[in-house]
Amino acid sequence: MTDGDTGDGEPKSQPELTAQRDVETVYQPAEDSRLLAETVVEELQSGAIELDSHARGLDVGTGSGYVADRLETETGLRMVGVDINPDACRQAADVGVPVVRGDMFEPFRPDTFDVVLCNPPYLPTPPEQEWDDWMERALSGGEDGRAVVDPFLDGVGRVLRERGRAYLLISTLTGPGEVREFAIERGLESTIVAEESHPFEKLLVVRFTPESR
Ligand SMILES: C[S@@+](CC[C@H](N)C(=O)[O-])C[C@H]1O[C@@H](n2cnc3c(N)ncnc32)[C@H](O)[C@@H]1O
Repeated sequence: MTDGDTGDGEPKSQPELTAQRDVETVYQPAEDSRLLAETVVEELQSGAIELDSHARGLDVGTGSGYVADRLETETGLRMVGVDINPDACRQAADVGVPVVRGDMFEPFRPDTFDVVLCNPPYLPTPPEQEWDDWMERALSGGEDGRAVVDPFLDGVGRVLRERGRAYLLISTLTGPGEVREFAIERGLESTIVAEESHPFEKLLVVRFTPESR
């Protein structure tokens, strides 16, 4: 059944939503994807994190697989992607990224990854502007922009190995102060490692380190 079909032969009053918005079902690489990939590649190439030949990385919400592919190609880190969107999983697999369809950290065992990175949906979106399709899951961070960011910070410590690091792309629209405060409450120290100005926002890459490590 499509969004424009009620199943009883009667069309709904709204046309099919993806057709209405004329968008892809998978988020395509943009300035946020590039900033995250370049920042983490530079961190790894500068030796900020010690990685052995068994080191593994996880790209949460891998989308097209762009970030995971760049990390693996440019640093040699063995990457895995995860996404809730089956179309995204197909695209990421097509560029050679091993990918799992799932909800964030749910498919993974504890203490598995040396590097976890994520370009989450981070735009604050009022409920009346939600549109209920895969692009909403890629873009909307709910009313405060942190609907996916907060669960990421809640769960990332479980899958990080000792001395592991997490990197999150956020915007000044997401409330960086609130994000960092939430992280402290979860035992994660944070450092802003990249900033890029755009007309209505600044994009930030924040590095998180579990306090006890
Ligand atoms: C802004 S897009 C980023 C895509 C890609 N990483 C990039 O940088 O181009 C966010 C991605 O997160 C995925 N996503 C949203 N919530 C998720 C969740 N709970 N678990 C896994 N993936 C999720 C979306 O389907 C989407 O592909």
